[in-house]
Amino acid sequence: MIQNILDVIRERRSVRTFDGTALKEDARKILRFAEGVENPYDLPISWKLLDAGKEGLTSPVIVGATAFIAGKMRRVPHAEEAFGYTFEKIVLYAQSLGVGTTWIAGTMNRDAFEKALSVEEGEVMPCVSPLGYPAKKMSLRETLMRKGVKADVRLDFGKLFFDGAFDAPLTEKDAGDLTAALEAVRLAPSAVNRQPWRVVVAGNDVHFYEKHNRGFVSDDGWDIQKIDMGIALCHFELSAKACGLAVSFSISDPKIPTADDTEYVGTFRAV
Ligand SMILES: Cc1cc2nc3c(=O)[nH]c(=O)nc-3n(C[C@H](O)[C@H](O)[C@H](O)COP(=O)(O)O)c2cc1C
Repeated sequence: MIQNILDVIRERRSVRTFDGTALKEDARKILRFAEGVENPYDLPISWKLLDAGKEGLTSPVIVGATAFIAGKMRRVPHAEEAFGYTFEKIVLYAQSLGVGTTWIAGTMNRDAFEKALSVEEGEVMPCVSPLGYPAKKMSLRETLMRKGVKADVRLDFGKLFFDGAFDAPLTEKDAGDLTAALEAVRLAPSAVNRQPWRVVVAGNDVHFYEKHNRGFVSDDGWDIQKIDMGIALCHFELSAKACGLAVSFSISDPKIPTADDTEYVGTFRAV
């Protein structure tokens, strides 16, 4: 599907200012692609292209977008990770076509989106994204937003990735075959750019953890940072495969000692 996934991951950024042209064939391609994406949790997600004008869909941070893509699913355990993994594959596919996106969980008229998607009791619409061609110049609001969350900056490799245990930072050199895939995780987008992913490499096992920030878990248990974790899993898997590694996913906590705010999510075995 994607020729050079590492380049696509490096080139992607949130696009909040669009040139206003309609998408036509690219929109249909993206929807067809979305409908074929599976996730490691085997949870079904249904996708819809939405016409911003007809459905009255707006986001205070987005300028010039005529279309959105949104997905809904049953609200079950691991829905967040499954959604994050799947939607990021769609985002990267859009990027490979030259179509800009922005993950949006909060800044939208959510009621109108949920109505357009016919979200029912027991279902959830975690995020939406505009689809469009990036404008030549960012709006002032977009520029300020990027500065506000330091959108162009990511945590250092050694702060995110560990060698066997959380007290042993992993260097890019020691990561060996996994360096590129871990770099792809490092570059991933996350809510408010908080980058909650932490990874412990133990032999061929690559254990993913969520380092919780305050304020991302709602009273009913929905955890937006688990969406970020799904994005990290997606970047790792796509990039490891592109580097010629065979990867398989499982959830089997290795019981490595962690801080109280750090939660095991899942493991890729990469060989
Ligand atoms: C789960 C999730 C939710 C997000 N929600 C919003 C949002 O509501 N509004 C917004 O403008 N950006 C949102 N973002 C985009 C992030 O702010 C952005 O990805 C991050 O700052 C990194 O910038 P980049 O995507 O340009 O690399 C969200 C991102 C993720 C992954």
